Amino acid sequence: MRIVFLGPPGAGKGTQAKFLERNYAACQVSTGDILREAVQAQTSLGRQAAQYMARGELVPDELVVSLVGERIRQPDCRNGFILDGFPRTIAQASGLEAILQNMGAALDCVFNLRVPDAILIQRLTGRRACSRCAALYHLAFSPPQREGICDRCHGNLYQREDDREETIQARLNVYKTQTAPLIDLYRRKGLLKEIDGVGSMEEIRDRIIKAVNEVRA
Ligand code: AP5
Repeated sequence: MRIVFLGPPGAGKGTQAKFLERNYAACQVSTGDILREAVQAQTSLGRQAAQYMARGELVPDELVVSLVGERIRQPDCRNGFILDGFPRTIAQASGLEAILQNMGAALDCVFNLRVPDAILIQRLTGRRACSRCAALYHLAFSPPQREGICDRCHGNLYQREDDREETIQARLNVYKTQTAPLIDLYRRKGLLKEIDGVGSMEEIRDRIIKAVNEVRA
């Protein structure tokens, strides 16, 4: 399966993409995670991306398209991939199409997770992530067993710098102006599946499984 997850910040793209990765032979490719690792490692990519990410703005298209192009050619993506947070602009969608054409591959579907702003803000302000294995938690909705410690690998949990309320608002605005137009683009291509992203993580997971089964049928 080759899947794209569209949706605003906090819609649950990472949560659901990790679930699909564990249960279907497809690899999660999160541009946000790759960029955060690059920032932490202070690579050339990380140094270029850091200023944009801290402001809640998008990293330039050419940087992101090139990193995704390299990533999805890796052997672990041979059986399929779940793009989480990419594409995010019309230019990135064109870049992806060119990469896939070059690989002789195509997308199977694009899931658009729909969630109202008030819930997104609640999810983002309570989010914590593991600094070692990137597992996701939420202080209220899926808290770790021990405060500040990852249940899976015992790494330390941290709050993302861009999950402060003022940066969240900037990210929501960027989503509405630059990413939301992709919904129509993929609808016109016949690839879009709308998913109601409100409810428990399990309810949303079940909606996605149903949609995956429809695509595979
Ligand atoms: P990125 O990391 O991609 O952030 P995002 O798109 O803003 O999405 P999030 O990771 O914030 O949310 P999510 O939808 O994955 O939700 P999650 O599952 O974590 O990008 C960060 C930055 O990197 C960008 O601002 C940009 O600068 C740069 N960047 C990345 N990709 C780029 C690109 N393609 N082009 C240019 N720049 C790019 O869930 C959120 C929280 O809610 C968690 O705590 C979770 O536990 C909880 N939760 C999830 N589902 C539920 C539920 N159903 N009920 C209750 N809680 C839930």
